[in-house]
Amino acid sequence: MCGIVGYTGPRQASRILVEGLKRLEYRGYDSAGIAVLKGGPIAAGERPLVVIKRKGKIAELRKAVPKDLAGSSGIGHTRWATHGSVTDANAHPHTDVSGKIAIVHNGIIENYVPLKEMLEKEGAVFLSETDSEVIAHLVAYHYDGDLESALKAALGHMRGTYGIAAMHADEPGRIVGARNGSPLVLGVGDGEMLLASDVTALLAHTTNVVYLNDGEVVSMTPTDFRISDRDDQAVDPRIDQITWKLGAIEKGRFSCFMEKEIFEQPESIERALTGRLDMEYGSAKLGGLNLAKKDLHAIERVRVIAAGTSWHAGLVGCQLLESVARLPAQAELASELRYRNPVVEAHSLYLAVSQSGETADTLYAMREIQRRGGAVLGICNVVGSTIARESDGGIYVHSGPEIAVASTKAFTSQLAAFYLLTLSLARMHDMSHHEGERFLEELKAAPEAVRRSLQQRDHIQAIAKRYARFHDFLFLGRGLLYPIALEGALKLKEISYIHAEGYASGEIKHGPIALISPETPSLFLVPNDHLREKTITNMKEIKARGGPIIAVAQEGDDLVASIADEYIPVPAVDSLFQPFVMVPPLQLFAYFCALELGRDVDQPRNLAKSVTVE
Ligand code: F6R
Repeated sequence: MCGIVGYTGPRQASRILVEGLKRLEYRGYDSAGIAVLKGGPIAAGERPLVVIKRKGKIAELRKAVPKDLAGSSGIGHTRWATHGSVTDANAHPHTDVSGKIAIVHNGIIENYVPLKEMLEKEGAVFLSETDSEVIAHLVAYHYDGDLESALKAALGHMRGTYGIAAMHADEPGRIVGARNGSPLVLGVGDGEMLLASDVTALLAHTTNVVYLNDGEVVSMTPTDFRISDRDDQAVDPRIDQITWKLGAIEKGRFSCFMEKEIFEQPESIERALTGRLDMEYGSAKLGGLNLAKKDLHAIERVRVIAAGTSWHAGLVGCQLLESVARLPAQAELASELRYRNPVVEAHSLYLAVSQSGETADTLYAMREIQRRGGAVLGICNVVGSTIARESDGGIYVHSGPEIAVASTKAFTSQLAAFYLLTLSLARMHDMSHHEGERFLEELKAAPEAVRRSLQQRDHIQAIAKRYARFHDFLFLGRGLLYPIALEGALKLKEISYIHAEGYASGEIKHGPIALISPETPSLFLVPNDHLREKTITNMKEIKARGGPIIAVAQEGDDLVASIADEYIPVPAVDSLFQPFVMVPPLQLFAYFCALELGRDVDQPRNLAKSVTVE
C-alpha cells in the first residue's frame, strides 16, 4: 500500500527520496511524488517547495525530477488509490494554498468530507479528489510559525488512520511526522534523519531506527529529533538496530524477488528453526512467548487470526495443534472475526499470524481480543511491526525481508513456527520424549526436503508452459494438504490472474465436479498416508469426466503417475511434514505461468504487500 519517505540532512534530498520510494515499490502503488525544499536563492514569485508527482511507476517520476534539483530536505510518497482515481493531481505530496506546506499521508481520513466543506469556507482550494489533501489545508489553517503544533492541532480534527510526513518552507530542514494506525519509523543517521513507512527505505542509509507508536508525533532536523505523545508529553525514544542486510532487499542473480524468495526457502526455514530445537528434551525452545510453563500447560484451545496466506499457514497450524498436541484449534479470518462480536474464552490462546505485522484486519481483530481480556501472541516476520509490538509475546519467523507481493518464504517459515509451537505444547501433554525426538528429526530435515522439492524447477516450468493458457483451475487436497491447495490456488490467481479455486478433494462431488471438462485442469496434492487411496479415487472421478490432471505426489508413486497427465514428484517425508514439500511446486507453477503470460510477477495488478486499510 502507500509508502512514505522523508529526508533531512546534507545530501541531495531528491535522490534519496526517489531511491527510497523505489525500495517501497514492492508494497504496491499506482503513482508517486516528492516535495523538496528548494536550495539556493529563490527568485521572486517562485515557490520554495518543488513538488513533482506522476501517475505510474517510479521510473516516470525519476524522469520528471531534474538531476540537479538542489535541496536537502523533502518528503516522498507512493500512492495506492483509495479516494479518487489514479492521476497526477491525486498523487501526493499535497500542498496548501500558499504552496509552503506539503504533506504525504498513508491511511484514510474518514471525516474528510465535512472537514473539506469547513476548509473551503475558510478559502482553501482543493486540487485533488483525495481525503489526504484536507491535511495540508488543516495544517495551514492552524499554522502560526510552528509546524509541529499546527500538525498536532490538525490531528485533533481528524478521524481515521494515518502515517503523515509534513514540511513547511519557512522551517527549512524540519520534517514532522505523525502516526495513528499506519506505521512510521525514524532513521537516525550521522548528521541526517530519515522517516519512512517501512525500514526497507532506510536500510541503505542507517540501521538505527525508532518505531513510532500510535498517537506519537516526531519533529526532526538533520541533527536532532523529538517525539511526543497525544498529551504532548516528551517520549523517551528507544533506538533499535535493524539486522536485515542490504543484500536481502536486492534481487541478486534472480530475475525477480518472487523467484529469489522461493529459492531462499531452505535457508529461511532453517533460520526459523535455529536455536529453537531442544534436542535434549525432544521439544522446542520458544523464549519469546513470554508465558510461564504453567500458563502454557493451562491452554485449552487455540484460535488463529490472520488473512490470506498467513491464514492458510494458520489452517495447517490448527490441524497440527489438534492432531499432535490434542488441542482444539481453529483458524479465523481476521476480517470476519473483528466484526463478529467474538466470545473470548478463558484458557484460549490467540495467535495473530502476519508476515508484515501491519495488516489492518489482523491488527484490529487482535486489539478486539485484547480489549476483551484475551492474550494474543504474534507470529510475525517483520521485527518491530505493530502486531509484533502490541502482541503479548510471540514467535518471529525470521524469513528476512519479503519483497515480492505474493508471499512465499514467509509462508513456509510460518509453517515452521507452527511445527515448533505444536511440538512445544504436545510435549506438555501426550507426546513422549521419544516421539518428540522423532518429530524434531523430521523438522530438522525440512529445509533439505524443500531444497530437493525445488529441484523440480525445470520440469514445472515445462508443465506451466503447457497449461498457462487455461482459464480455470481446481486445486485439490485433503487433510494437511487442503490448506496447501488453497495456498496454491491463491498464488496462481494473484500473480498470473488465472482463475483458480482450492477445494478439499472430498468436496468436489458436492458441486465443483460440475466444472470439470477438458478446459478445466485439476491440480491434485496426493498425500502419502491413509488419504492417498481416497485421493486417487477422486483423481479417477475427474479423469472419467475428461478433466486434465496435474498431480504432485511422493517420488516413485507410479500409480499416481499413470493416472495423471502430469506428475510432479516430491521427496518422501513423513505425512505430517508434507506441507513443506508440497508448497514449493505450487509456488513455482504459479510463478512460471505468470512468466509465460508476461505478468508483473513482483507487483501484480491491484495488490499491495501490506494491507494497512480495511
Ligand atoms: C498472498 C499474500 C496476502 C497476505 C495477506 C496477509 O500472497 O501476500 O494474502 O498473506 O494480505 O498479510 P500479512 O501476512 O502481512 O498479514
